[in-house]
Amino acid sequence: MAKRKTNNLVLVTGGAGFVGSHLVDGLIASGYRVRVLDNLRRPTHTGGLPAWFNKKAQFVRGDVDKKSDWEKALKDVSYIFHLAGYMDYRMDFSEYVRANAESAALLYEVIVEKRLPVKKVIVASSQAVYGEGKYVCRVHGLQYAKPRDEKRLKKQDWAVYCACGKKMAGPIAQKEDDELMPTNPYAITKRALEELALMLGREYSIPTVVLRYAIVHGSRQTFRNFYSGALRAYAVQALAGERIEMHEDGHQIRDFVHIDDAVAAHMVVLKSSKANYEIFNVGSGRRDTVMDLAKTVAKAVGVRHNPLLKGVFRVRTTRHSLMDVSKLKRLGWRPKKKLEDNVRDYVAFIKGYPEAIRYLRQSYRDMAAKSLVQ
Ligand SMILES: NC(=O)c1ccc[n+]([C@@H]2O[C@H](COP(=O)([O-])OP(=O)(O)OC[C@H]3O[C@@H](n4cnc5c(N)ncnc54)[C@H](O)[C@@H]3O)[C@@H](O)[C@H]2O)c1
Repeated sequence: MAKRKTNNLVLVTGGAGFVGSHLVDGLIASGYRVRVLDNLRRPTHTGGLPAWFNKKAQFVRGDVDKKSDWEKALKDVSYIFHLAGYMDYRMDFSEYVRANAESAALLYEVIVEKRLPVKKVIVASSQAVYGEGKYVCRVHGLQYAKPRDEKRLKKQDWAVYCACGKKMAGPIAQKEDDELMPTNPYAITKRALEELALMLGREYSIPTVVLRYAIVHGSRQTFRNFYSGALRAYAVQALAGERIEMHEDGHQIRDFVHIDDAVAAHMVVLKSSKANYEIFNVGSGRRDTVMDLAKTVAKAVGVRHNPLLKGVFRVRTTRHSLMDVSKLKRLGWRPKKKLEDNVRDYVAFIKGYPEAIRYLRQSYRDMAAKSLVQ
């Protein structure tokens, strides 16, 4: 990234976390002054600032669901990346509302009340807003699928069905203006975040951009959460000498985007006025399966690819999820990294945390106790 001198101060909420800390590095490397607002939430954090936190960034410890913390953090800021959010699989439903939706309302409330000269707000949403996704029924054509029936899943029937009872063909990559079918508190509150930000942005002429991330991969990604992404689980198991445990039949398609490509997407929408008041998918543009991911992990760790398929599934998980990234490409962005890059970088990172296997086993026990994996 070319460095340019600028006096613009950029606020990154959640800037001590995975995506945020890489974004902070990218902004500083490009010549921006950066301030971070983060509450260093457990279990992602274990006390103080993580070792990778960029020393050139200012740090404000605070909550995005507290107006006074926004007021402190927003002083003299030109651009805001609002990344702090709540995304575990726990039952504290009101926390999703506070961290993901109320936070956005407070951000615009402070900007409007104090007439802050903010040039742009960019908020982090998720592919989760699409829900089960788009498929084709031979009889009824294009369909937005409903969540899969648990009775069928218990019989290890992983397919997506039309309401008419026929198996559907697909999936089709999601586009930004597709219908949204969020099916859990996380996704519902991310949808609320998107709508609030765009509506208030338009109403008060505060250029606003929504980024819908696919599954982002890279170093610094927490391994302490209850909810475990596939890369964390597979890498940690392979490094511990265990067989990789896979859900369903391993043919689930996912969109895994490398953190460097994700950070590049933020930089593109920051600089482009064409991005204002728009939503962009941030994905890899590939169709990898979780089996491809497991094979790549086994290769990177140097173990035989011999996954364990127990026929279990995680409740409320989509069969497939993939996004069309052509809209972002029209702004000149291109994803450059391969699945091998994602895995190599994560494995190199997680090797430094041998305790990750303990956290993973605990999360599996917790998920089973709450019947989230069946
Ligand atoms: N990582 C992914 O694959 C992915 C995919 C889709 C969307 N997202 C979204 O991207 C954003 C960043 O995710 P991440 O993976 O970097 O997560 P992360 O947990 O690594 O980072 C989130 C950061 O936000 C901070 N935070 C949480 N709640 C806060 C609050 N109330 N006030 C202030 N700070 C708070 C945490 O301390 C943490 O440092 C989130 O909004 C998430 O929903 C991430």
